[in-house]
Amino acid sequence: MMYKIAITGKTFPQVIDKLGQSCKIKIWEQDGPIPRQILTEWLADADGLFSTMVPIDDELLSSAPSLRVIAQAAVGFDNINLEACTARSIPVSNTPGVLVEATADLAFGLVLSAARRIPDAAAFVKNGLWNKTTKFPLGVDLYGKTLGIVGMGNIGAAAAKRAQASGMKVIYNNRSRRADDTSLNAAYVSFDCLLAQADFILVLAPLTDATRGLFGSNQFAAMKQTAYFINAARGALVETDALYHALSTGQIAYAALDVTDPEPLPADHPLLSLPNILITPHIGSATTETRLAMAMLAAENLIAGLNRKPLLTCINPSVNYKE
Ligand code: GLV
Repeated sequence: MMYKIAITGKTFPQVIDKLGQSCKIKIWEQDGPIPRQILTEWLADADGLFSTMVPIDDELLSSAPSLRVIAQAAVGFDNINLEACTARSIPVSNTPGVLVEATADLAFGLVLSAARRIPDAAAFVKNGLWNKTTKFPLGVDLYGKTLGIVGMGNIGAAAAKRAQASGMKVIYNNRSRRADDTSLNAAYVSFDCLLAQADFILVLAPLTDATRGLFGSNQFAAMKQTAYFINAARGALVETDALYHALSTGQIAYAALDVTDPEPLPADHPLLSLPNILITPHIGSATTETRLAMAMLAAENLIAGLNRKPLLTCINPSVNYKE
């Protein structure tokens, strides 16, 4: 029996081969996101959906009468109305674990790149300025500084280790204190205390109703004037206008963002005109090995769900299939 599935973006040939053994595949391989209209048509008879972070809401689900599994190739799932999926008894999976180290590398890479202005320095050389009398401005040390991590899950813990290897002290704030924070050598502090004490603030929290707009003008005002603000989570945790104001008025020193709101950021966006910002295009998990592992895990979840077997990494377990 061949299942019908929809895949919303390009993936690896190995993944297509794996899914092709039991599925008839419709896949969006063009540049840019799949148009909603096309996805709606594809879902009319689809049994499974392999999602690359497309918006999934109740209206979309209402056009998918046979859908019995959604496997998303990402760890965050703020694009999905999970209650709507659960109400329709559709189990949904994400890809935790496999992207932890790659994302921690990128997050800490932004901390280091910001402190030492590595991309700005590289541009300085490329622009032929090295042999001029102008000197490239000095960066700041990581050694001895305090990193404040907001959202201390697996990625936060992995980023903490990297920071400690550079001689940073780690403090964190999280929904709840981690039982293992002594062994992580990370001190749990209140959100306000973190804002006041951290030299580098690294955001790794999921986007939820509780975290949307968490960083606004009051929060930037509460940071040190020398603070570096790094976001590798979701753009909407930050009020972009407030960040622009904080950076352009010198309220904080620098920002490094792997995620923005809006995303993608238009080329003429005011943030891009600032000298004290570094922006990368949402590449936290973007390595060959990690993206393959994420896609393979999503494929395994999809196949399980198509066969009405338990999804391996289900995020709405109340409607997961039982053994
Ligand atoms: C990427 O942002 C992810 O959530 O995996």
